[in-house]
Amino acid sequence: MPPNEAPIGVFDSGVGGLSILRSIRRELPAEHLSYVADSGNAPYGDRQVAFIEDRATIITEFLLAFGVKAIVVACNTVTVVAVEKLRVWCPVPIVAMEPAIRPASGRTRSRVVGVLATSQTLASPNVARLCSLYGNDVRILLQSCPGLVEQVERTDLTSDTTRSLLLRYISPLLEVGADTIVLGCTHYLFLSQLIGEIVGPSVSIVDSADAVARELARRLGSHRITSLRSQRGYEQFFSSAPQEQARAAISALWGRPVIVHALVPPHLHQTANEL
Ligand code: DGL
Repeated sequence: MPPNEAPIGVFDSGVGGLSILRSIRRELPAEHLSYVADSGNAPYGDRQVAFIEDRATIITEFLLAFGVKAIVVACNTVTVVAVEKLRVWCPVPIVAMEPAIRPASGRTRSRVVGVLATSQTLASPNVARLCSLYGNDVRILLQSCPGLVEQVERTDLTSDTTRSLLLRYISPLLEVGADTIVLGCTHYLFLSQLIGEIVGPSVSIVDSADAVARELARRLGSHRITSLRSQRGYEQFFSSAPQEQARAAISALWGRPVIVHALVPPHLHQTANEL
């Protein structure tokens, strides 16, 4: 396959990165997209660094074996823990996540911003750097959200349990005047509607999905590997979760029935073209 027509690999600890895949599909309709959900190992948020690094390496090798021309790390947690190491050896461009603290600090009028993310992400030097760059005249409140990734993995986007978890995490932010909430975990984008109901119309919700898709388009352009086809690209899905559970979750969140392949060593797969 000519490099321009090779797929783009996108991965996350689970189904959350489908929210990034959605933006990529809108931005780059012709590109082939191969998505890996490591749902059998989600959540990553409270795992040891070595475990997350191992999983990121295994999945990157898996995608490279499928001939991807670029990789999107659609997971804030993998980004802060493992992406620098991946970049050392990975032969294709890698685009990664960053919580949207910069746009949020430009948008807030109350000068109080709340950031929802996993504890790994919030404890990272990446977030500390963003807070020191953009937190001079803005109070940036960091709120970890244990349990939310699991709710999205179960595609439980609207239940009382999910709502009460969100209330527990968001209410303290609203009480001190936050008018802008950053979704710093790709899973949480699937809770945007419920979060919007909780915070009301005067509070902005910001994420980095469209910015990542635009950055990917820019990187493909600068490496001259943008697809030249005029037809729409395919999406293919892989998951480490039990197959029926993976199919149901990904179909629900992607918005149409899809086939999900098991995440097994590449030599056991057919090539991407044959799938
Ligand atoms: N979607 C991942 C992120 O953006 C969730 C990490 C996890 O599995 O805890 O951080």
